[in-house]
Amino acid sequence: MATNPWLLIAIGLCTVFLAFAHTRRRRERSYPPGPKPRPIVGNIFDLTARELWLRASQWAKLYGDVVYLRVFGQGLLFLNTYETAIDLLDKKGSIYSDKPSLVMAGELCGCENMVAFTRYGDQSRRQRRLMQKALSPSAIPLYHSLLEIETQALLKRLLEDPHNYDGHIRRYAGSLTLLVVYGCRVVSNDDPFLTLAEDCVEIISNRIASGGGIWPVDVFPILKHLPTWFPGAGFKRNAIKWKAKMEEFVDRPFELVKSRMKDGTATPCFCTSLLEQASESEDVSGAQQEFDIKWTANSMYSGDFFVTMTVIRHFLLLMELHPEVAAKAKTEIDSVVGTDRLPMFSDRPSLPYVDAIMSECLRWGTPVPLGLPHRLMEDDVYKGFYIPQGTLVFSNVWNMTRNPAVFPDPDAFVPERYFDGAKYATTDKNDPRNFVFGFGRRRCPGSHLVESSLWIVMACVLATLDVSKETDAHGTPIEPEIVFENSVFRTPNAFPCAIKPRSEEAARVIRTAAALNA
Ligand code: HEM
Repeated sequence: MATNPWLLIAIGLCTVFLAFAHTRRRRERSYPPGPKPRPIVGNIFDLTARELWLRASQWAKLYGDVVYLRVFGQGLLFLNTYETAIDLLDKKGSIYSDKPSLVMAGELCGCENMVAFTRYGDQSRRQRRLMQKALSPSAIPLYHSLLEIETQALLKRLLEDPHNYDGHIRRYAGSLTLLVVYGCRVVSNDDPFLTLAEDCVEIISNRIASGGGIWPVDVFPILKHLPTWFPGAGFKRNAIKWKAKMEEFVDRPFELVKSRMKDGTATPCFCTSLLEQASESEDVSGAQQEFDIKWTANSMYSGDFFVTMTVIRHFLLLMELHPEVAAKAKTEIDSVVGTDRLPMFSDRPSLPYVDAIMSECLRWGTPVPLGLPHRLMEDDVYKGFYIPQGTLVFSNVWNMTRNPAVFPDPDAFVPERYFDGAKYATTDKNDPRNFVFGFGRRRCPGSHLVESSLWIVMACVLATLDVSKETDAHGTPIEPEIVFENSVFRTPNAFPCAIKPRSEEAARVIRTAAALNA
C-alpha cells in the first residue's frame, strides 16, 4: 500500500499535540494534598528515619484522610483512616496489591523473593497459596498443642531466670516459628538460627527500610553500576555484606530440613509437608516449587519473629504499667480455670477479658504503624484526587489506632473499650485485628496463627506470674523508659521489669506442666 507523506505528517502532528495535551492534563490534575515539595528532591527532608508514623499523623491532621508526597519524583501516599485503606487497598485490590521493585532492597540486598517484596503476579499468588494452606483458620487448631507446650517452656524460663525475660521472649518467638516452619527445636537462647534471624530482620527493617526504604539508587538505578571503591558507593559495600547474610538466612535452615528428610530424621513441618507434596505434583517444575517453598518458609520466619517479640514486649510493659488491668484478668482466669492448672485454648470463649487485653495490646502497641508499602499498578482517581501509577501506598495504621472518634482517649490502655456491657463486642471499625495486619490482597497471612500464639502466652502469664516495676537498690520502683528505635516495627527497647510467681502453687503448676513436656 502506498503511503501519503502528508497523511504521515498530519498523524505525527496530532500525536505530538495529544501527548502535549496529556502531559498538561496530568500536570493540571489535582494530586492529594500534602507538604509542599522542593524542586527536584521533593519532600525528602520531610521524612524521618525514626517513628515516621508520628510525622505522618501530623500531616493527617493538617491535610486530611489521604496525604501525598514526592521524593525525587516518586509518589508516596499515606492512607490515614480505616475507610480510605478499605476503599483503595481492599476494594481496588486488583490495582493496589503490587510491591515496589526496589533496587537496593531487592536486587542489591537479595530480598526480592521474600513474599513481602514480591511483585503482584504468579509468584506472589503461588507463595500466598502455600501459606494459606498452612495458616488458614481451619489449620490453626493443629498448632494448639505446640503453642501450649512452647508457652509452658517460656513460663518455666521466666520463673527460673526472670531477669533475662527478653532473651526468653526472643527464644519463644523464634523457636515457635522454627518448629512450625522448619521442624527445628531451639536448644538455647543463643541458638545460631535465632541470632541469624534477629540480625537479618534488624538489617531489613532498620537499615534497608530506614526512612521509607527508598535509596538514591532506587531513584537513579544507574548508580548500581558504581564500583564499590567509588566515593559515595558505601551503599554497595553494605549491600554486599547484607546480601550474604540474607542468603545464609534463607538457605541454612532450608538445607538442614532437606538433609534431615534425606536421612529420615526430619520433624513434620511446613517445609516437609510441602516438599513431599511437591515431589508428587506435576503442575509446576520441581525446581520452581522448591524455590517457592524455600522463600515462603523464610518469609514466614522473618514475618513472625520480630512482630511476635514486639507484641509480647508491649504486653509485659503494659502489665507492668497497669496492675489494675492484670488484677482484673487474674480474677477472670481464677474463676474460670481455677489455680491448679494452666489456661488452655478450650478456655478461650470463657475468658473474654484476656481477649480484650490482647486486642488493646495490638492497638496500643501498633506493631507495624505504617504497614508495608503497596505499589499502585495504574493511574487512579480517588475522591477527585489523581494518584499516579507507581505511587507507593502506606496505610497509616498508627493514625487509625489513635483516632479518638473510634477509640476515645486513644493513648490510654483500656481493654474495657471492647465491651458492650458485659459482652466482648468489637465492630469492624474498632477491632484492631482488622487493621494491624494490613489490608487487601497482601494482608498478613500469619494473623490467625499469631493471634492464637499471643492469646495463650498472655493467658498463661497472667494466670501464674506477676509483672511489676523493677526496684533499685533502695527499693524505689524504676519507671520504664520506652524507646522506639526501629524504623518499620514499633518495638520498644528492652526495659527493666520484675517477674515473680503469683504464689507457690502457681510456681508448682508451671514446673509440673513443663516437666510433663520436657
Ligand atoms: C502480631 C503479629 C503480626 C503482625 C502485627 C503482622 C503484621 C503484618 C503487616 C502489617 C503486614 C503487611 C500487610 C500489607 O502489606 O498490607 C504483614 C505481612 C506479612 N506477614 Fe505478618 N504480622 C504478624 C505476624 C505474622 C506471622 C505469624 C507470619 C507468618 C507465620 C507473618 C507473615 C507475613 C508475611 C509473609 C507477610 C507478607 C505478605 C504479602 O506481602 O503478601 N506475619 N504482616
